[in-house]
Amino acid sequence: MNMKIELVIGDILRHKADMVVVNLFEGVKRPGGATGAVDAAIGGAITAAIRDGDFHGKWGETLLLRPGKGVASPRVLVLGLGKKEKFTPDLVRQSALPVLRLAGKLKLKTVASILHGAGAGGLDPGGAARFAALGAMLSGYEYDRYKSEKANRVERFRVVERSPAIAGEVRRGLSDGAKLGEAINWARDLVSSPPGDLRPAGLARAAKALPKGLGDAAAKKIRVRVFGKKEIEAWGMGGILAVGKGSDAPPRLIVAEYRGGRPGGRWTALVGKGVTFDTGGISLKKWEGMEKMKYDMAGGAGMLGAVRAAAALGIPGNVVAVVPAVENMPSGMAYRPGDVIRMMSGKTVEVLSTDAEGRLILGDAIAYAKKRYRPAAMIDAATLTGACVVALGSVTMGMMGNDGKLLSRMKEASAASGERAWELPLHEEYFEQIKSEIGDLKNIGGPEAGTITAGCFLKEFAGDTPWVHLDIAGVAWREKERMGYAPGPTGAPVRLLVEFLSQAGGG
Ligand code: BES
Ligand code: ZN
Ligand code: ZN
Repeated sequence: MNMKIELVIGDILRHKADMVVVNLFEGVKRPGGATGAVDAAIGGAITAAIRDGDFHGKWGETLLLRPGKGVASPRVLVLGLGKKEKFTPDLVRQSALPVLRLAGKLKLKTVASILHGAGAGGLDPGGAARFAALGAMLSGYEYDRYKSEKANRVERFRVVERSPAIAGEVRRGLSDGAKLGEAINWARDLVSSPPGDLRPAGLARAAKALPKGLGDAAAKKIRVRVFGKKEIEAWGMGGILAVGKGSDAPPRLIVAEYRGGRPGGRWTALVGKGVTFDTGGISLKKWEGMEKMKYDMAGGAGMLGAVRAAAALGIPGNVVAVVPAVENMPSGMAYRPGDVIRMMSGKTVEVLSTDAEGRLILGDAIAYAKKRYRPAAMIDAATLTGACVVALGSVTMGMMGNDGKLLSRMKEASAASGERAWELPLHEEYFEQIKSEIGDLKNIGGPEAGTITAGCFLKEFAGDTPWVHLDIAGVAWREKERMGYAPGPTGAPVRLLVEFLSQAGGG
């Protein structure tokens, strides 16, 4: 069950929840607004805590009080928002994590909060509401399918707002944020699934169920089709076939269309890597950390999640997700280093490592999307290279492309959504590294600039279609709590893509 996000117009002092949340920017000595009103009602306990140095309002800092009479709820949490000049809209989302973690620990069911940060950093109340609801949804997420004892779940998150004048925009913002959060959590569940539970056919089955729970109007605009080995063979998708060969679970090609734009309007294509488990194949990975390679389908899950979000939000535009789903296994049937494969586009690729499999399946999926949909823009997302984790860590995804305009729109969407992406260059000189002696391309480019040479490889298949590649290897899964996410899958890059699609307007 997902958390319910609700709006209450009224006074936070009089609202009854298991805990009410107010806030304080760092350095403020006498709180104002709702925080000031709570402070006054409880005899200046917040001001006293600031004065005595118990609480500073530092980012993520919390102060839990039992207010007694004067406040209807039994608990007041004061949340530190850090320095006002450093505040950004995405910090509204991130601030939900310490609140919901504490609420979970205290086994609370209903949390009510004032709207944080409206007015700070140029954020309007609707935007603040959207980020708050998204934060609550993402912070309340836990994959507990295999837990015998389920952790406490906060069932309701309420925003209490005084002013009826802004009720409309706040309600709208909360609803949009909740829908986005739901779609992201849907994608996170897929990424969390153990690799034996979610093989290519399993990912395809999940994709088929993508419209489930969206309501008839949204569901009617979605069409999910799944193609099997027969079609993949018939279309000459040598990359997908080669990578899938080593597994007894045959590959799938998942195509999820959302028609939210004009009939006949141009498509935006979202291509996502769907390697349900990456052992490396014959170029076998070392055992340590291999279990994590269940998240090698995070790009695919993200693209399907973006389609789900676009439909839920009613974004105007035609969007298609194309996800090649394979399992990369070593076996007597597996493809080998040294093999030369012919891709759907006609290009030949010399395989030097069977562990550089993502670009092989994406090359075919990109060619398919290009041929079948003639998209106005194409974006792919993939947990493609360990080199990207080295370069940008788990903070920022790598971004590359062939079209300056599309890249700058993606940068704007990144800034507005708070989901970080940074451009790496695809200079001509790098292409030298992936030229093959025996065929057109080779699938690895040597030890230097591994993220870029993978991008160069994909660029060969995008051709003249405006295209952006997102390497999400570092950000799709985090080992430690960071940037408002508990450890585990993040659902990247759904936030970025939904912002991009919302900006793009009708297709
Ligand atoms: N799925 C991996 C990339 C990856 C590594 C994702 C670490 C997340 C964390 C990809 O298929 C892969 O194995 N890439 C190789 C490419 C190399 C052989 C050129 C890599 O990065 O080592
Ligand atoms: Zn690999
Ligand atoms: Zn991989």
